[in-house]
Amino acid sequence: MERKKVTISDFMQKKEAGQKITMMTAYDYPTAGLVDQAEMDSILVGDSLAMVVLGHDSTVPVTMDEMLHHCKAVVRGAAHSFVIGDMPFMSYQVSPEKAVSNAGRFIKEARCDAVKLEGGTEMAPVVRAIVVAGIPVCAHIGLTPQTATKLSGFKVQGKDAEGARELVESARELEKAGAFMIVLECIPDAVAARITEALNIPTIGIGAGKYCDGQVLVYHDLVGLFERFVPKMVKQYVNLAPMVKKALIQYKEEVESGAFPGAEHSFTMKAEEAEKL
Ligand code: KIV
Repeated sequence: MERKKVTISDFMQKKEAGQKITMMTAYDYPTAGLVDQAEMDSILVGDSLAMVVLGHDSTVPVTMDEMLHHCKAVVRGAAHSFVIGDMPFMSYQVSPEKAVSNAGRFIKEARCDAVKLEGGTEMAPVVRAIVVAGIPVCAHIGLTPQTATKLSGFKVQGKDAEGARELVESARELEKAGAFMIVLECIPDAVAARITEALNIPTIGIGAGKYCDGQVLVYHDLVGLFERFVPKMVKQYVNLAPMVKKALIQYKEEVESGAFPGAEHSFTMKAEEAEKL
């Protein structure tokens, strides 16, 4: 059967049918192509780009221009997966007007299908303004890395009844504001289950247990290409970094010893032409 581009109604149908939604981050053309070929429903160009690709120690420094640059490459590689561009810190908090114009750049310039932004009830007016402008918004609550300092670090959120109630309330408000999907990061599985049950829109978990409507992981974590740390919620399906290092060392040694390039990787010319050299 011919594969079609994934749409928002596909996400809704999956939630209704109890089928899990799959999402993976990607930041460049070749990775987007692989994720798309793996038939992932959605690709998130996360602001985790700041850490796993650009080498920053948090997601805060990444800029609109950097996000757009990477979104453009991902969109070129994703023929079918639904591409969500992550709005960087301070691109949507200043005013709903600024948020709408920055969200518009993800759609108009990078050709993303939707944007994502972090925050609870306080962000509902911003979500509403972007949605009214015709841009689909994925919300993100729980551990919100852009404001991790305010949360006193990278900690599981909603661990007590009051915190959990606030998360459920935020999720409801964001749905009312028009979000089509919501990421739940680092919250207890029982809280994620409660939110998933309470909402009509799909929930996508990362460190939020198995009761969410779908799951997302950071590509570099899943394939073992980010060596600084491996968070508890990550399952590393392959550990590429040592394999890549081994290949690089072998190449270096073969260049040094003269073993590379061999005849099979070299080009020849006719003997009579070589004689004229
Ligand atoms: O930036 C990101 O990759 C994210 C996911 C972890 C949800 O926001």
